[in-house]
Amino acid sequence: MALIFVTRKIPVAGISLLQAAGHEVVVSEKDGVLTPEELLAAVSSRPYDAILSLLTDTIDGAVMNAAPQLRIVANYAVGYNNIDLAAAKERGVLVTNTPGVLTDTVAEFTVALILATVKRLPEADAYTRAGKYEGWAPELFLGSDLAGKTLGIIGGGRIGSGVARRMQAAFGMKVIYADIAPSPALEAEVSCTYCASLEELLVQSDVVSLHVPLNEATHHLINAERLALMKPSAYLVNTARGPVVDEAALVAALQAGTLRGAGLDVFEAEPALAPGLAELPQAVLAPHIASASTETRTKMSEIAGHNLIAALTGEQPENVVE
Ligand code: DGY
Repeated sequence: MALIFVTRKIPVAGISLLQAAGHEVVVSEKDGVLTPEELLAAVSSRPYDAILSLLTDTIDGAVMNAAPQLRIVANYAVGYNNIDLAAAKERGVLVTNTPGVLTDTVAEFTVALILATVKRLPEADAYTRAGKYEGWAPELFLGSDLAGKTLGIIGGGRIGSGVARRMQAAFGMKVIYADIAPSPALEAEVSCTYCASLEELLVQSDVVSLHVPLNEATHHLINAERLALMKPSAYLVNTARGPVVDEAALVAALQAGTLRGAGLDVFEAEPALAPGLAELPQAVLAPHIASASTETRTKMSEIAGHNLIAALTGEQPENVVE
């Protein structure tokens, strides 16, 4: 039997799996993100063998040192930029994530965010509710069409491919994509063109959608210089990680009108927003909910549970990240 710390309440499916496998599970009682001090105190309070963490927890060497028996950190997310992989490797701690199960839901959400942004739905909804609608008008809330326009996917992995496929099949968009290398999987699914140059993709695209992991190479991948390459009629959509975009530079581009709109599910210093962002009606903002469906969050819980059970019985979990 192993002792597992879960940093915040998650759907019960994975917890039940762990308990059925004979493990003791302690779930943080705080209804919120643990502060670094609270996290350290919690993991050092008992001899934990495993941590089930969320993307809002920074799991660094200090946290790992506070749990000397630690064998695995199972992240309840596909992204794992919150975990110091080098520190984990040094200490022989396995790290796992929850890929696969959130591909469809994040792709669906990205499509919704693109549509909400280019069709100006939240703005129009607020206007109508506020009693400002006084009758049909030829130029009321003019948005943009998608048919025949170019979608630039940055990051041609599973989610990027899912977005490309949906936008092409449903809306007739032309797809171009950029990544560190061409993606045979994406090219098998979607009629698309690989752009070896990110700059070229930005110049050509009418909608740019980000699907890269956050790491040193992708931090501020979209900066002021690159935003300046985009068409003034273009839109930027980010359901990946906030720091991939220089958010202050994005606000400046939207304020200056050098970019038409943005759809953001993630923020550079979330939950905080860059100054000025909340005041921009052409930005559609969501609180990091791209994977938030009941089905997907339950499956993420199960996968994290399976990863933990495998590691704690000495087997290789399916979703080890390195
Ligand atoms: C992830 O799993 O990385 C997502 O950002 C969670 O919604």
